[in-house]
Amino acid sequence: MKSILILHGPNLNLLGTREPGVYGNYRLEDINDALKSRAAELGVQVRCFQSNHEGQLIDALHEARDWADGVVFNPGAYTHTSVALRDAISAIEIPVVEVHLSNVYAREQFRHKSLLAPVCIGKITGFGWRSYLLGLQALADAE
Ligand code: DQA
Repeated sequence: MKSILILHGPNLNLLGTREPGVYGNYRLEDINDALKSRAAELGVQVRCFQSNHEGQLIDALHEARDWADGVVFNPGAYTHTSVALRDAISAIEIPVVEVHLSNVYAREQFRHKSLLAPVCIGKITGFGWRSYLLGLQALADAE
């Protein structure tokens, strides 16, 4: 059975109350519950982790080498700034899907640039909490 890390970056702990017009009404635990249900249907297992700290996200990626077959990662604002997260993704050699709730291309220019996308296997953006489900589906189907 495949094991997938669901990794949430900064400020995503505030989902549900944070700019609901942009990010929706689902709380992080609602998204994690939906992912666990979908994982059971797909025959994969998921572990979920959120951090507001770049170093903890890097540690989670490193630790994933020991147990995970893939990572669904919403890096939040670090998407647009973090060379360190990019290097971590390159280093671990596990497929990572970059996901975003909002359509970053319909927003400010600074969100159009992702330092991480070139080292991910793909990117899903703009489908709200369902972006995560699509990311999970992609990894479950991957060879
Ligand atoms: C986000 C998009 C980022 O630009 C933003 O900084 C976030 C959330 C999204 O899921 O739409 O924190 O990753």
